[in-house]
Amino acid sequence: MSASFPLLLLLLSLLSLSPPSHSLTPTSCAAPDHSSTLQVFHAASPCDPTKQPPTTSWQDSVLQTQSQDQARLQFLSSLAVAPPAAGKKSVVPIASGRQLVQSASYVVRAKIGTPAQTFLMAVDTSNDVAWVPCSGCVGCPSTTLFSSGKSTSYKPLGCQDFQCKQVPSPTCTATACSFNMTYGGSTVAANLSQDTVTLATDAVPGYTFGCIQKATGNSVPPQGLLGLGRGPLSLLSQTQSLYKSTFSYCLPSFKSPNFSGSLRLGPVGQPIRIKYTQLLRNPRRSSLYYVNMIGIRVGRKIVDIPPGALAFNPTTGAGTIFDSGTVYSRLVLPVYTVVRDEFRKRVTPKNLPVSSLGGFDTCYAVPIVAPTITLMFAGMNVTLPPDNFLIHSTSGTTSCLAMAASPTDPLNSVLNVIANFQQQNHRILFDVPNSRLGVARETCT
Ligand SMILES: *[C@@H]1O[C@H](CO)[C@@H](O)[C@H](O)[C@H]1NC(C)=O
Ligand SMILES: *[C@@H]1O[C@H](CO)[C@@H](O)[C@H](O)[C@H]1NC(C)=O
Ligand SMILES: *[C@@H]1O[C@H](CO)[C@@H](O)[C@H](O)[C@H]1NC(C)=O
Ligand SMILES: *[C@@H]1O[C@H](CO)[C@@H](O)[C@H](O)[C@H]1NC(C)=O
Repeated sequence: MSASFPLLLLLLSLLSLSPPSHSLTPTSCAAPDHSSTLQVFHAASPCDPTKQPPTTSWQDSVLQTQSQDQARLQFLSSLAVAPPAAGKKSVVPIASGRQLVQSASYVVRAKIGTPAQTFLMAVDTSNDVAWVPCSGCVGCPSTTLFSSGKSTSYKPLGCQDFQCKQVPSPTCTATACSFNMTYGGSTVAANLSQDTVTLATDAVPGYTFGCIQKATGNSVPPQGLLGLGRGPLSLLSQTQSLYKSTFSYCLPSFKSPNFSGSLRLGPVGQPIRIKYTQLLRNPRRSSLYYVNMIGIRVGRKIVDIPPGALAFNPTTGAGTIFDSGTVYSRLVLPVYTVVRDEFRKRVTPKNLPVSSLGGFDTCYAVPIVAPTITLMFAGMNVTLPPDNFLIHSTSGTTSCLAMAASPTDPLNSVLNVIANFQQQNHRILFDVPNSRLGVARETCT
């Protein structure tokens, strides 16, 4: 079955680091999605109607992005840490009290209802349930609201529906199954609903999502969120027969004048020549895409990582995940420290002064030649191009190693996160049926 898909818009916060080329013609914004390939636009693209004009300096952008990442890391770690009480083995796909974060970096154009209403929904590989702001919403940031009354295919779900047991803290009324979530600094109250969701030309009838009635805070993705996680209620779970739990994306370089890449859903048309590593499952935290990272090479040196520092542990949630919503990769402190130290040692010219910028502790004020960085996974080495680990200021010559240590508080010390800055210009293939994740270089255009 061939499927075609909606536009994916890259909302990378970094955008303001690299001002858009205003000569970019917006004509391609309207280009139809075709076959099973979706266009991805950088948020700096004029194609993204949600984009804000850059108002912040490079330094401010970096700091802001990092603080958003910090909130996301807390969210990811809350997913990763095992519940304290033993006993209940069944997965709770959306844990009570979980924290969603504000820094979802991509949005997908999805059409909801009959006739279709269009939304730019943030795509998030570490979340499952979808939600959109609905008409009458109090506190939603966007004026683009889903009007359920105008859709002939809309159906509210009630407490008798099994999906009501798959959302956090459901509340029952006579007519609705409602639930609350936190998302970064925001909270969201939604009614569980079903309607036809159309991705490009593929209509998925009876798609279950949350219809947001109330939002507080300012970190809610303006037009909703589409979860690409592995758990129940995710896009994968709800489109099993259509997409076979298989998708890939290529995130364009934020330096690309084209600012577009692609998301490909389903097994058809996925790359043949691609390296794989095994996907690992944490039964307690079913959303996350864990892999087995076994080492890191800096230049020619495989750094000495303390034993166990990279190990996958489904009980504690420790290990390494690929995530589309975090911007800069995080390594647990003992791993980050040895990688950073080796990196500094191998930067030329030698003995340059090193400065900090926000959470980045390895910045240089003059142009440098950096060593390569290779992420070593079981069965797959990924050597990152310099653009995937060095962030440069648009004005001036400052550059920083675009990675950081995972937060050190007890909840957050466990996860290594391979983030979207490190994934750009690669095709990342999530092949859940075969329990593998593929990575191949690809220049996204
Ligand atoms: C959910 O949020 C709504 C609106 O803010 C509030 O009235 C309700 O008490 C909350 N429910 C739960 C279970 O926290
Ligand atoms: C959401 O549920 C509440 C009751 O919990 C109801 O008053 C409201 O009309 C519902 N909204 C929609 C759009 O169904
Ligand atoms: C990855 O690189 C290391 C060190 O260079 C090498 O020993 C190993 O065989 C490589 N693994 C694969 C799967 O290519
Ligand atoms: C920009 O991307 C489109 C596909 O979205 C492609 O057809 C076109 O060739 C690209 N242009 C450049 C200059 O790379």
